[in-house]
Amino acid sequence: MLIAGNWKMYKGPNETRVFCARLRARLHHLEGVDVIVCPPYPSLHEAIGMLAVTEVAVFAQNAHWAEDGPFTGEVSPWMLRELGVGGTLIAHSERRQLFGETDESAALRIEGSLDAGLHVIACVGETEDERDAGETEAVVRRQVEAIRTVVEDENLERLAIAYEPVWAIGTGRTATPEQAEEAHALIKGLLDVPVLYGGSVKPENASELLSQPNVDGALVGGASLEVESFATICEVASRS
Ligand code: PGA
Repeated sequence: MLIAGNWKMYKGPNETRVFCARLRARLHHLEGVDVIVCPPYPSLHEAIGMLAVTEVAVFAQNAHWAEDGPFTGEVSPWMLRELGVGGTLIAHSERRQLFGETDESAALRIEGSLDAGLHVIACVGETEDERDAGETEAVVRRQVEAIRTVVEDENLERLAIAYEPVWAIGTGRTATPEQAEEAHALIKGLLDVPVLYGGSVKPENASELLSQPNVDGALVGGASLEVESFATICEVASRS
């Protein structure tokens, strides 16, 4: 099981220090689950230092594809690696919806990050309109196939997919375990990598979602911002 906390644009270095100290104490001795936190860029260094003595990995939330170059405001995956970052999210739906991320640019970012030696959690998922129009399968298939074309077989072990239906992110509406399972089975049929579910995962619904056969973990947004709820989800995962 893999549980990743996506902090989005929350927690500067000071809050990160306090959070990681408490998480360290709380997750001591936890087995059977890999835990990742994804702080915003300015807090990565602090998180890496605070969690160095733990098994908790630190991932970024995005990365460019080039090693360096004239790309103002972008961050190189090689530089993240140098900092001690273990991996990165790519193509989170907020990147796709708000910042123009496309299947093509996502594929470039995934390829560059894997080439740099990072792990990648690549996000896919349909919008509410797409689900209502019966297009869920076609959309998810298109997104996963765009990822598949750029991943070399030897890099597959550093890739995971997060299935995050856009209508379930930050809304309190969770996909039913059956809806999640159906999408995860589709994704795993296209690409044999771990598939995390994301979208309003909370301590109360984690067990039901994580018990689905093709659900290998969770990408947690809101509930990852409090040590107590995040640690509880990690504990549920360790028993699933
Ligand atoms: P949420 O966010 O858990 O707050 O719905 C999930 C995500 O955006 O990764």
